[in-house]
Amino acid sequence: MPVRFFAKSLLPVWCVLLAMTLAVSAQTAPMAREEAHRRAERLLRQMTVEEKIGQLNLAAGIEIPGVDMPGTGKGKPDGAIAKGEVGSVLWLTDVKELNRLQHLAVEKSRLHVPLLFGFDVIHGYRTAFPEPLAMASSWDPSVEESAQHMASEDARAAGIRWTFTPMVDIARDARWGRIVEGAGEDPYLGAAMAAAQVRGLQGESIGPDSVLACVKHFAGYGAADGGRDYDSSYIPEVLFRNVYLVPFHAAEKAGAASFMSAYMDLNDVPASGNRWLLHDILRQEWGFKGFVVSDAFAVFSLQVHGYARDSEDAAFKGFTAGVNMDMASQTYIHLLPKLMAAGKVTEAQLDAAAMPILEAKYLLGLFDHPYVDESKVEAVLSRPEGLALERKLAARSMVLLKNDNHTLPLGKDLKRVTVIGMLADSARDIEGGWNAEGGFGGPDKSHPVTVLAGLKNKLGPGVEVNYVPGPVPAQEYPAIMDMVLGIKPVPPPTAAETAEWLVKARAAAAGSDIVIAVLGEKATMSSEDASRATLDLPGIQEQMLEAAAATGKPVILILENGRPLDIRWAAAHVPAILEAWYPGTEGGNAVADVLFGDVNPGGKLPISWPRAAGQEPLYYNHNLTHQPDDAPNFTSRYWDMSSKPLYPFGYGLSYSTFKFANLRLSKDRINAGETTEVQVDVTNTGAVAGDAVAQIYIHQRAGSASRPVRQLKGFRRVTLQPGETQTLKFQLGKDELSFWSPQTKAWGVEPGGFDVWAGEDSTASLHAELTVVE
Ligand code: NOJ
Repeated sequence: MPVRFFAKSLLPVWCVLLAMTLAVSAQTAPMAREEAHRRAERLLRQMTVEEKIGQLNLAAGIEIPGVDMPGTGKGKPDGAIAKGEVGSVLWLTDVKELNRLQHLAVEKSRLHVPLLFGFDVIHGYRTAFPEPLAMASSWDPSVEESAQHMASEDARAAGIRWTFTPMVDIARDARWGRIVEGAGEDPYLGAAMAAAQVRGLQGESIGPDSVLACVKHFAGYGAADGGRDYDSSYIPEVLFRNVYLVPFHAAEKAGAASFMSAYMDLNDVPASGNRWLLHDILRQEWGFKGFVVSDAFAVFSLQVHGYARDSEDAAFKGFTAGVNMDMASQTYIHLLPKLMAAGKVTEAQLDAAAMPILEAKYLLGLFDHPYVDESKVEAVLSRPEGLALERKLAARSMVLLKNDNHTLPLGKDLKRVTVIGMLADSARDIEGGWNAEGGFGGPDKSHPVTVLAGLKNKLGPGVEVNYVPGPVPAQEYPAIMDMVLGIKPVPPPTAAETAEWLVKARAAAAGSDIVIAVLGEKATMSSEDASRATLDLPGIQEQMLEAAAATGKPVILILENGRPLDIRWAAAHVPAILEAWYPGTEGGNAVADVLFGDVNPGGKLPISWPRAAGQEPLYYNHNLTHQPDDAPNFTSRYWDMSSKPLYPFGYGLSYSTFKFANLRLSKDRINAGETTEVQVDVTNTGAVAGDAVAQIYIHQRAGSASRPVRQLKGFRRVTLQPGETQTLKFQLGKDELSFWSPQTKAWGVEPGGFDVWAGEDSTASLHAELTVVE
């Protein structure tokens, strides 16, 4: 992404951010890395073996309801902290408790080493921004950057100096629940979003104003067999390097302080005990200088995988693979001393593992300012600028999937509106999962605006709004977050209850000008431990939709969900569909902004939208086959369904229309390693101002390996006035044209022919050719 575009598109955001930054910035000047290293070295020289191991121990600050694992539920970690046996604490957001523990560490432990508090601040602290998949739908990395910047300021004010984000796992299978936490299926888009998040959280470099990023889940977690969370991943090296590792490397290059090793087996070697991954690739090839933390209990789990013999072996395998810090399982603190005594682990290895953790603590300024100023927390967390930014970013993340006959935007002359679906007024669900404040049972002071509330705000008291919620959809099996948040399971409605809801939906719709259906998944139906075997609209939601549509009234479907769903019926029968994802605290207002045309939607899909679960995994950047899709007589790879997605990767409508023309290359013949400039003219051919997302795709025609049919290699979101044309420029050079070849086992640009396309989605047809010579 060129710097010039960034600077321009970010200008208004930056002004707000600058003002906010001044308001919440720390007073201490940043420390140079070398100085942090020197101080860490000095400290390590004074530390006992036990104290060093303590720095490698990330202890649970609370008991997690429903989770019975070693290291949790054993009371408060006070004694261990005072002895210097805990270096960091997670899952704690109560500021008073956090300060109390910090006082113990700083005042009672022998060397006064402060604790580092880590937490899952995934998409905001109190103000919840859209979920990462939604933010990726903005196709505007500045959205991610500004949201994460604000999230980091909030988190820092509340004492959290390390967040377990960004999740940069490529997800090609919508059954996998955690697809909502990442940027979707594409490595190029994923890389841009990953780097933007790191910049937003940490700033230019790690200092007193930073919150440390933790890039997860390293690596390949999204390729879980069958989309089943935690299941094994089998990823050939060629795919691993060209697709799955790409966003991780981008985050590393952006300066991410830490990585989290994933839970699952990667090609039969668990990621949290995989030295090839954690040492050879991360440290040797990429030169990563930060620290690796395991996912929660993942070191202990090396036994469960059948990889480690016992806890001692698990500690040995995790530690020697390159996991610096053990999250929550207490395996290191109990067993590394034994391994040291047996000579299996040396003190030099311990020093090397503890060093980047201590360096980070120095860089963050924790030794000088270990405590949270409790009197300031509320003022920062309730800044109105946060809500204004959230509303803007939420609207920027929405994707208009269908809009027949200009059904949207709606006029404000409506008299009666029917709203259906329990999600329409569920404050708990509109923010999605992983809410930091209140996330593990603490109080949550956020006041989310539901879609129903947002519509009422927009329409005012003169418009009658009838609401038919329908039943809460049941889940066969609860997810881990249902247990953590104490959400009680509900039974499915009886036949009589269903019939009653359908009658109500039909009657309300019949008496209204329009119907707005807000359907999808409850927040805990996606994310961790929330995979699915089908992609249906859960419960009786589709029946409610069909009942309302049967009245002949125009129905607008708003989707609130964390993954693409099987919406074939709606796509065939409902005139307008808006994908709102989980749009966050101001989500309802943002939905209303888009529905009524105060914001023209410009988001695009960061995933290929399947017709049905049976198509998964589905992704646009697949290889050509023996019988390509455009071969004569080709119909489909399935005999019972098109093999194409319902909506392609990169797709999304606007209230305006755009024309792409004059695709040209500054040089259509270059040497390998040289760069050519791609130019394309984009014109707003509609009647209103709107955002176009120009997308550049390439295809290498022949080489040492088969290459994907298309690959995204450039994109830019621009606002165009009606009739306005902008010429957009992109570079195709070494970074864009090279790939890791399974034959040469190296990255390189290969001579030959390349196709280049520019357009509005991954089916773009505007074409040019590029030849690369040796
Ligand atoms: C487990 C999840 O896999 C990970 O994403 C999260 O950061 C940790 N738990 C800590 O909560």
